[in-house]
Amino acid sequence: MNFKGKDIISLRDFKKEEIEYILQKASEVKEGRHSNSLKGKVLASLFFEPSTRTRLSFEAAMTLLGGNFFGIADPQSSSTQKGETLKDTIKTISGYCDVIAIRHPFEGAARASADVTEIPIINAGDGSNQHPTQTLLDLYTIKEQFGSLDGLNIGLLGDLKYGRTVHSLSMALSFYNVKLFMISPELLKMPIHYAQYLENKGIKYTETQNIFDVGQDLDILYVTRIQRERFGDLQEYEKVAGSYKINLEVLDKLNKKIKIMHPLPRVDEIDDSVDKTDNAIYFEQAHNGIPVRQAILGLVTGAIQ
Ligand code: NCD
Repeated sequence: MNFKGKDIISLRDFKKEEIEYILQKASEVKEGRHSNSLKGKVLASLFFEPSTRTRLSFEAAMTLLGGNFFGIADPQSSSTQKGETLKDTIKTISGYCDVIAIRHPFEGAARASADVTEIPIINAGDGSNQHPTQTLLDLYTIKEQFGSLDGLNIGLLGDLKYGRTVHSLSMALSFYNVKLFMISPELLKMPIHYAQYLENKGIKYTETQNIFDVGQDLDILYVTRIQRERFGDLQEYEKVAGSYKINLEVLDKLNKKIKIMHPLPRVDEIDDSVDKTDNAIYFEQAHNGIPVRQAILGLVTGAIQ
């Protein structure tokens, strides 16, 4: 499969075989194969929104396979402040690097960037739209834990309206034989076009506001932060802030073998006391960002085949 020069923008663009191929390459990288494969390659990491894990794991991924990176971590320090358009920034930076990872508050920013350059663009999150590399590391983590994605009951909890991670993840899961359980306040339900996408793919899902309605049936609970920065009206945020808190008492009422995932950062939706249980896998999940992003960088630059 040839990924050289491909953009990674949205799960909508993927075929199942392509997802599987990336996950297979990530396993190879994690086993220690492909060392130094990114030697001589340069990543531009352009982050116009806050990030810890995504930016640093892209940069670490590049360095660990022998490549280099430069980037913008603080938009205040770039010419965006002088009024430069995103398209001009991308056209310019394309001449300095082999691949660009971009995070931007506007939906469609990654696609717009890809339209003005030949070098591969990786969407590291565009507004509340998509976050495909997070999804690939989520799938990788699930496969690592369960051996397969098929047959699983997966709960998505929290901000299903604005959370880009659950938008990408639910689209990816539609390739597999899974049952989805959407758990959110009424205000933060999964947008109708994602729900329709799942229905069209024949994926069964239920919606509830109460985790205890479904908690015994779940193999995985994927918890998300309520995306405060995406609310137009902070009074609306106040209505739903703190809706869910997974602590030991709540965990005790869920399936004993449930695995708790979270893209992180968490605010207050998972209590620290959960971290040391066998159920918590969110830090392993975050660490899988390295091999998965190494595989993606290798594939789109043509350094890994
Ligand atoms: C997520 C994001 O940026 O969408 N974080 C991440 O990349 N791991 C989730 C979030 O910010 O809530």
